[in-house]
Amino acid sequence: MTGSSSYLDVTADAYDAVAVLYAELFRDELDAVPLDRALFAAFAEFARTADAGPVAELGCGPGRITAHLRDLGLEVFGVDLSPVMIDLARRAYPDLRFEVGSMDALDLPDGTLGGVVSWYSIIHAPPQEVPAYFAEFRRVVAPGGHLLLGFFEAGDAPVTAFDHKVTTAYCWPIDDLAKLAGEAGFREIGRMLREPLEGERPLRHGRLLMRRGE
Ligand SMILES: C[S@@+](CC[C@H](N)C(=O)[O-])C[C@H]1O[C@@H](n2cnc3c(N)ncnc32)[C@H](O)[C@@H]1O
Repeated sequence: MTGSSSYLDVTADAYDAVAVLYAELFRDELDAVPLDRALFAAFAEFARTADAGPVAELGCGPGRITAHLRDLGLEVFGVDLSPVMIDLARRAYPDLRFEVGSMDALDLPDGTLGGVVSWYSIIHAPPQEVPAYFAEFRRVVAPGGHLLLGFFEAGDAPVTAFDHKVTTAYCWPIDDLAKLAGEAGFREIGRMLREPLEGERPLRHGRLLMRRGE
């Protein structure tokens, strides 16, 4: 693994501890968020059209997004740091493949994925580590493949740590993440900001849809 392994251990332990509760709370969350479903549908259409290989959901947690992408017609598998999350995902979706691993050091050959979805998983990486994550995504995604990022958005503030219920997390200005992913070799296709729903923490949600260049 690159960078300090201690924050990865802390993150894995923290998600192991809350995995059952997290899976319960978020199982049907997408039903209440039509804008996110629309974005996943768009990502799936881009990925199916490019036909550049399977898609990995990196930081898949209990696998609900992986399963949603499967339902949208993608060949997809999930990777997560937390062994308890992976155990839950395997039990909930026995037809899908889930592996324990860190998304900054993937056990995958170069250029073999048609896409990567990172849905609220880079939020726990210390900001100085994020370029290495994007470099790893760039390594495993084939030319013409796609990247979809979901994260908390910082608005006019710089990247900032906030009190996430599970473990330290960072919200990012969308332009800064787009710039870092761009420097790693992804070109922006589009972006979305959505306001928090009632009951969500008072942060906007950022989404970036990007394509790997040649
Ligand atoms: C907020 S949860 C999101 C889970 C899932 N994407 C979803 O939306 O339901 C963040 C997940 O990212 C995982 N994660 C954080 N850092 C990771 C890393 N470096 N490699 C793999 N998984 C990681 C955590 O273990 C956790 O399951």
